[in-house]
Amino acid sequence: MLIYLTGFMGCGKTTVGAGLASLLSFPFIDLDEQLVEAQGMSIADQFDRLGEQVFRENERNALRQTAIHTSAVIACGGGAPCYFDNMDWMNRHGSTVFLHLSADILASRLLLEKAKRPLLRHFTDEELPVFIEKKLAERMPFYLQASQIIDADRPAEELSAQIFQQLIQHKGS
Ligand code: S3P
Repeated sequence: MLIYLTGFMGCGKTTVGAGLASLLSFPFIDLDEQLVEAQGMSIADQFDRLGEQVFRENERNALRQTAIHTSAVIACGGGAPCYFDNMDWMNRHGSTVFLHLSADILASRLLLEKAKRPLLRHFTDEELPVFIEKKLAERMPFYLQASQIIDADRPAEELSAQIFQQLIQHKGS
């Protein structure tokens, strides 16, 4: 079973995904990490040196590579479901989970971390919440295609446990 965790930057995909992988005893794959290793540079450098279009193509290829595993939990970059036919592909190859948080909560989390995120680092603290609200609204139609939609405004351990329970129930039904 392949489980793809999706959601906007800052929603907790990596922490929740690592917890879920440990509950399931599955390997955990962070798609951004795979890209950093494959390209030998940070995500921010990939945007700067290769450009976003090449980054998105590499991201799509890294996503396709996950299908070599029979079981894994995969944390996707926030934009991954929204390019090419990635969301459809994930739904065909595994189970998808959307960690949903409001734009306000995301903005308060991302204010502290915007420097390392290429899509956010150029905004002032005042501009950031406006951009997040707009981008989240644009991406919602993709995120909402996930098979599980989870309110992510809770501690990561609770979220991992909830997703785990729902996967087990779904498998048994
Ligand atoms: C992006 C999200 C990032 C990373 C890149 C682009 C996006 O991943 O893939 O900076 O378009 O939302 P996280 O969601 O893990 O921060």
